[in-house]
Amino acid sequence: MAMQLVGVIGAGTMGNGIAHVFARCGFNVMLCDVEQRFLDRGLATIAKNLDREVAKNKITAGDKVSTLGRITGVVDRAKMADCDLVIEAATEKFEIKAEIFRELDRLMKSKPEVILASNTSSISVTELLTSVMRPERFIGLHFFNPVPLMKLVEVVRTIATADDVYQTAYEFGKKLGKVPVRTSDKTGFIVNRLLVPYLLDAIRAYEEGVGSIEDIDNAMKLGCGYPMGPFTLLDFVGLETTYYITQVMFEEFKERRFASPPLLKRLVMAGWYGKKTGKGFYDYSDPNNPKANKL
Ligand code: CAA
Repeated sequence: MAMQLVGVIGAGTMGNGIAHVFARCGFNVMLCDVEQRFLDRGLATIAKNLDREVAKNKITAGDKVSTLGRITGVVDRAKMADCDLVIEAATEKFEIKAEIFRELDRLMKSKPEVILASNTSSISVTELLTSVMRPERFIGLHFFNPVPLMKLVEVVRTIATADDVYQTAYEFGKKLGKVPVRTSDKTGFIVNRLLVPYLLDAIRAYEEGVGSIEDIDNAMKLGCGYPMGPFTLLDFVGLETTYYITQVMFEEFKERRFASPPLLKRLVMAGWYGKKTGKGFYDYSDPNNPKANKL
């Protein structure tokens, strides 16, 4: 199946990153969000991130212009009816995602071959597919932040996914210059199943006085070669995102390793979500020199 036009629902961090990669790889993209100002912000982020790639000589200034030219921003989901694949990267809330898929399914009745995908990181893909009439054409495509840089995409299969749909999605991942990995619809898939307990353990280690925030970060960076220490990564991903994921994973497995440590909850309740709010485990008043908060 040839992908001519792909749709992305949600112009936030993940959605604009996904649209960026689709367009940079030559696909025409419809990027949809509920308000023009969210679209404008997403498109401005894509332009800024393409500039970084130009500055690093990864692409030319001409590539930037043609990439942006392949992206059309829309607020009306009905305009996406001709897409060959639509990926949802909306807020990580079941009801919001389910409503999007119900509407897409209705709007795309005359496009039986469309593939519908969710970028969810923790919600059950199988539960989401109950919103559509063609569960065999529904999959998970889970990208990683920052999407233009991270090479992985998890291709998530449910028991209802058709073989040809899965294979098409897997090959599509390769066409995006990513390395696709196969995984089944088990909460957290591969990466979050392993990453989330590690991040939560780092918070517990700090709570227990094993080391300071900076020392734990440095230990994991320099001792294990991780590009970011766990607290820098938590702030980067967003503490509210991680907190939400822990709730879904704990609900599923009922195991302590997935339970949110009290400190994570306190930071989220205080609105300290990490880099995006200027405060989390670190204070970003000086973005070039974040300082660990006293917690
Ligand atoms: N597009 C988008 N973002 C870009 C970018 C591009 N082309 N180039 C750089 N960035 C951004 C980052 O957001 C960060 O932003 P600011 O400059 O605005 O602060 C910036 O990279 C850092 O810039 P650098 O030039 O220093 O980037 P780098 O080459 O040193 O690499 C990194 C940065 C790739 C993020 C590296 O530190 C890394 O690999 N970190 C780990 C990231 C990770 O583990 N991601 C997965 C998170 S888990 C997840 O996403 C799944 C989930 O479900 C929660």
